Amino acid sequence: MQPRHSTNVVWQPSRVDRRKRREIFSQSGATLWFTGLSGAGKSTLAFLIEHMLVEQKYKAYVLDGDNVRHGLNSNLGFSAADREENIRRVGEVAKLFADSGMIVLASFISPFRKDRALVRGIHQQAGLPFIEIFIDTPLSVCEERDSKQLYAKARRGEIKDFTGISSPYEVPTEAEIHLNNGPSPQEQAQIVLDYLELHGILEK
Ligand code: ADX
Repeated sequence: MQPRHSTNVVWQPSRVDRRKRREIFSQSGATLWFTGLSGAGKSTLAFLIEHMLVEQKYKAYVLDGDNVRHGLNSNLGFSAADREENIRRVGEVAKLFADSGMIVLASFISPFRKDRALVRGIHQQAGLPFIEIFIDTPLSVCEERDSKQLYAKARRGEIKDFTGISSPYEVPTEAEIHLNNGPSPQEQAQIVLDYLELHGILEK
């Protein structure tokens, strides 16, 4: 972690508490953290669930790896240190969104266990639900799809530190939801929505 340079700052409390936000939004703020290889189907699923939730008048928003790297994190690459900072920043943003009452769908390869644990810790400390969802699509399937043609480039040595090829992916050991390649995106989305209802994150 980077040293903290923000000194002489004082936490400012809000006049709106979580109970009030829940009452108004009929949902609890929470972060759904999608992890898996590039091409595993994280973003497809996250955007599908976002759409389904919003259609039902819930408040949801996707933070997507490729999109966040166009703006907030455009100064970061794919070294282990840059990925750590990518995930740390997004974890903090997700926490703020979740605190605001939003259902955050964060879709990031997030290949390192310690980085995912850090984000989980940030949420736990804030008393906010953190649901890790492992999109367990094998490398062979992701590479076969190669929807962005990045695996082909990585195999040719044109992209360095590519996850699954020249940079590791550490499989989650404590994911709340483990989705393998079998079910369709619609079926996967329903599994996640059922989980949210069962755990009282969505009010009927
Ligand atoms: S993470 O590892 O830091 O979590 P993130 O999810 O933000 O990655 O970004 C991954 C996306 O960046 C991939 O879907 C892919 O489109 C693109 N990308 C570009 N270079 C790489 C690389 N070296 N490794 C993995 N993904 C890469």
